[in-house]
Amino acid sequence: MDEYTDNQVRFYDLCLPFEEDIPFYKHLLGKDHPLVLEMGAGTGRISIPLASAGYHVIALDKSSAMIEKALFKKKEISPSCQDNLTLVQGDMISYQSDPKPNAVLIPANTFMLLKTFLAQKMCLKNIHQNLPKKGLLVLDLFNPHDFLNQAFLEERMVLVSSISHPKKKIIVNHWVSGKYDPASQVVQTYNIIETCDSEGNTKKYPYTELLRYLYRFEMELLLESRGFEVEKIYGWYDFSAYNTKSRKMIFVARKK
Ligand SMILES: C[S@@+](CC[C@H](N)C(=O)[O-])C[C@H]1O[C@@H](n2cnc3c(N)ncnc32)[C@H](O)[C@@H]1O
Repeated sequence: MDEYTDNQVRFYDLCLPFEEDIPFYKHLLGKDHPLVLEMGAGTGRISIPLASAGYHVIALDKSSAMIEKALFKKKEISPSCQDNLTLVQGDMISYQSDPKPNAVLIPANTFMLLKTFLAQKMCLKNIHQNLPKKGLLVLDLFNPHDFLNQAFLEERMVLVSSISHPKKKIIVNHWVSGKYDPASQVVQTYNIIETCDSEGNTKKYPYTELLRYLYRFEMELLLESRGFEVEKIYGWYDFSAYNTKSRKMIFVARKK
């Protein structure tokens, strides 16, 4: 089974203390989508707040190490909210939920971790089978026009985040570089997590990641061909419309 590497798992929550997308998902789910399937739920960054807000959430992930982290975090919420969260190890290409969810979420560029066009098509086919008619699908992707930036063109390292560890008194820097192949639309990212302690000692934890990026009309056509109707395309979690400069390309679609 294709797993997140140790270095990715170890630093995931620390490098992504991001919460801006959570109210966005709550707003889209509203009262009409009480049963939610999050695909690629990771450490439960989104699934746990949704379960705490009263949604019944199936948090699916391929990586046992990420699920283990989510399980640890699940134990910190109230017992009644814990009952709202089911953690499942499985693949978003083939997982079938019973009962069917009212909504499927694929946050944080996770759909791009499916490295081929074929895998992405298979995943959408599987989501279509999971959802009832009018079921909601939210797919959060990088905007390729923003993502394929100068740093990737020049293949130089860029500091994407620098965070102080609340307990260990270290700074954790996340550096990224990458190169991309326009023919396959695959980016290979090179990541270095660098920790610096108060005495100036540094340690480096590298990992690579492949992401298959998609363009706006490619994604729209793909969704339509797989039986979805695109309702909106947002450029950020504040519901602003997608444009060339948007950081994100977030598709809100419904099963036809
Ligand atoms: C970028 S993280 C996102 C985690 C979480 N959704 C969040 O927003 O913080 C991507 C997650 O997707 C999982 N993943 C990658 N490919 C997958 C697949 N084919 N099926 C299920 N999970 C997958 C990885 O193990 C990882 O935990």
